Amino acid sequence: MGKNIANTTHTFFFCDGGSCQKAGSEKVVREARAYLRNNELWDTTHTIKTRCNGRCEDAPTCIVSPGEFWYKELTPEKITPIIKRHIDNEELVESELLYKKGWNQQVSNNERAPIKPKPFELKNDKELDECYITRGFSSDQYLYPLFLYLKENPEGVSLSMPNELPIPFDDIIALDYSKAHVLEIHTKTTCITLTIASVPKDNKELQKSKISSTEYFYQKETKLSGIRFKNKFGEILGRILFDSIKNKAWKYCTKIQLQNTALNLI
Ligand code: FES
Repeated sequence: MGKNIANTTHTFFFCDGGSCQKAGSEKVVREARAYLRNNELWDTTHTIKTRCNGRCEDAPTCIVSPGEFWYKELTPEKITPIIKRHIDNEELVESELLYKKGWNQQVSNNERAPIKPKPFELKNDKELDECYITRGFSSDQYLYPLFLYLKENPEGVSLSMPNELPIPFDDIIALDYSKAHVLEIHTKTTCITLTIASVPKDNKELQKSKISSTEYFYQKETKLSGIRFKNKFGEILGRILFDSIKNKAWKYCTKIQLQNTALNLI
């Protein structure tokens, strides 16, 4: 039988995302687990490794429950006294905390300004000619919600893959994002795949199919708006087109995907 979690008094959520790993999270977790084992706390506590907690600038991070205690810039030396204080209900060292319930905001030593898309710029693009263009986000945390939204709001939106006829989003019957890197887009007759998750650096094939650039554009002459996807080598992987900038889905793009970056036409 596994551990009886009903006996758990404290849970420690250690971030195991890329930035925390680089900042030494594994050593912190090992130290914490050794301390819990050797102090007969193994059966009454729990340690969990999580993916990125969204505070990479404060890596390595850990969240302690009960309560909402977020720790920053952990080291193997800091972690055992932190655990002890929680278990023994002792006063916490506030300078080690990134956040606790009741604070108005986190206290970070490395706060970064949030990354925002740049305003649309009027450019002469090789493929699109004169157009207003800006770059959005290309991680799967943006692209999967984008495709989900467009599938649910398909009117006037189409997907155009290189050398293929455009597919109206109305024809898309299912999206499947269960594979490691690839989003499958199913119509009744075909399945299109787009690589939207991070891929290993040494896999050239996946690197070539991975969307690394997501540009939102409005062509001055045709008045067409759309999204252009490229890989890191600048090759076009596909496009989404909207029938009008009044389209609900285009408005969603400027609001959610581009974080309220308005298209101001001159
Ligand atoms: S990788 Fe740990 S907070 Fe992002």
